[in-house]
Amino acid sequence: MNGHRVFFTFDITEDCHTLDAYKKRGGYEALAKVLKDGLQPADVQAEVAASGLRGRGGAGFPTATKWSFLAKNSPVYYLVCNADEGEPGTFKDRWIFEHTPHNLIEGMVLASYAINSRHSFIYIRGEFDLSYKRLMTALKEAYAAGLVGKNIMGSDFSCDIIVQQGGGAYVCGEESSLLSSIEGKKGYPKNKPPFPAVKGLFQAPTCVNNVETLSVLPWILRNGGAKYAEYGTEKNKGTRLFGISGHVKRPGMYEREVGYPYKKMIYEDCGGILGDKALKAVIPGGNSTPILKPEQIENLTMDIEAVAAQGSMLGSGGVIVIAEGTCIPTLLQVMTRFYAHESCGQCTPCREGTTWMNQIVTRIAKGQGKAGDIENLERIAKGIMGNTVCALGAAAAMPVQSYLKQFRHEFEYFIEHGRSMCDGRLEI
Ligand SMILES: Cc1cc2nc3c(=O)[nH]c(=O)nc-3n(C[C@H](O)[C@H](O)[C@H](O)COP(=O)(O)O)c2cc1C
Ligand code: SF4
Repeated sequence: MNGHRVFFTFDITEDCHTLDAYKKRGGYEALAKVLKDGLQPADVQAEVAASGLRGRGGAGFPTATKWSFLAKNSPVYYLVCNADEGEPGTFKDRWIFEHTPHNLIEGMVLASYAINSRHSFIYIRGEFDLSYKRLMTALKEAYAAGLVGKNIMGSDFSCDIIVQQGGGAYVCGEESSLLSSIEGKKGYPKNKPPFPAVKGLFQAPTCVNNVETLSVLPWILRNGGAKYAEYGTEKNKGTRLFGISGHVKRPGMYEREVGYPYKKMIYEDCGGILGDKALKAVIPGGNSTPILKPEQIENLTMDIEAVAAQGSMLGSGGVIVIAEGTCIPTLLQVMTRFYAHESCGQCTPCREGTTWMNQIVTRIAKGQGKAGDIENLERIAKGIMGNTVCALGAAAAMPVQSYLKQFRHEFEYFIEHGRSMCDGRLEI
């Protein structure tokens, strides 16, 4: 276990993103197998079900089950790739675009075939300049080679891939607002039901999948779902891309089987903590996931259920490592500012709550905190949880709740003394 790779099967070279390079490493063999050997859409779905693949966008929902929810007998279906990647600390989708965009294109065609989508969309964050360029070049290559478009690989199956650049709003990663944005409307999340699987893009049944989720499909179809299911843990199959940032000596992108130990990743793969400091905390799966203390990651593995048992989430797989000496109230100020800025303003608890939380934490971080600030923050965060249209509200409240729970003494010290226990430091 832990030696297998799905993405990191090639050297990073100047041309690893091209069609030639992708084909040399087995690219488009899965598509050929499906379209030329006459596999039916149901066969593709069955293979993905056998793989046990769970979505990589954050919630970890089983991919084949999600496809099975699509309303039956619709004349039109849409597949939409969520490439908004707005969660701070997460950069795995960008890595795929920059190094192996054909993985995504082949995965999109396979998924489109499985759900019968003839027009599939990639919604990509507007700021991703290199990713966009690499994607468009790869798409051009794929169209020219008959791998996308009309009668793909000479088969009866035709599917276009349409790329839409987003404006760079975190809320547009939420699936219903993403779909509204593609339709040319404001990126406002919608109440569910109806879910996109019933009424999605242009009112048609729609499946929204993350970049990594779709990019892993060529491997599954080429090697078989059962082979993929041999990797990982009992409930969490395969490998995942983990983007490690923060106070480690070798930050970057790592692919490991699900179930890999956090400590091994931090101390062996990433070379340990900057300046050989002690570990203070770990944010295990992107900015919004509750912060964990070193004793909680002592024996913790990178696995959805294991991290949930510690009260946090594996989320998007973006791990942020925090060294001793970092000021937690100052860190929380950065976090709350982000959510206050990104709230779409539709629901009062989120719109007002994110702003209040940011104002209070900013006041504390300026040395002007008052008695009752901590209790007020707790009250506001609690008021947001479960009372909003989309999960951005919870994403904003969870860091506040967990930082106060885990590092309450630092907030109390800041308020009492008007200064940080750690000189307000974020950098090491
Ligand atoms: C505020 C917010 C932002 C989100 N941002 C992203 C994102 O950038 N990328 C992503 O794939 N999913 C994001 N999601 C989750 C998506 O709504 C959706 O669950 C996901 O794209 C499903 O893909 P999967 O089944 O392949 O995991 C976000 C959700 C919320 C509430
Ligand atoms: S929770 Fe926040 S971001 Fe989501 S719909 Fe409500 S106001 Fe908008």
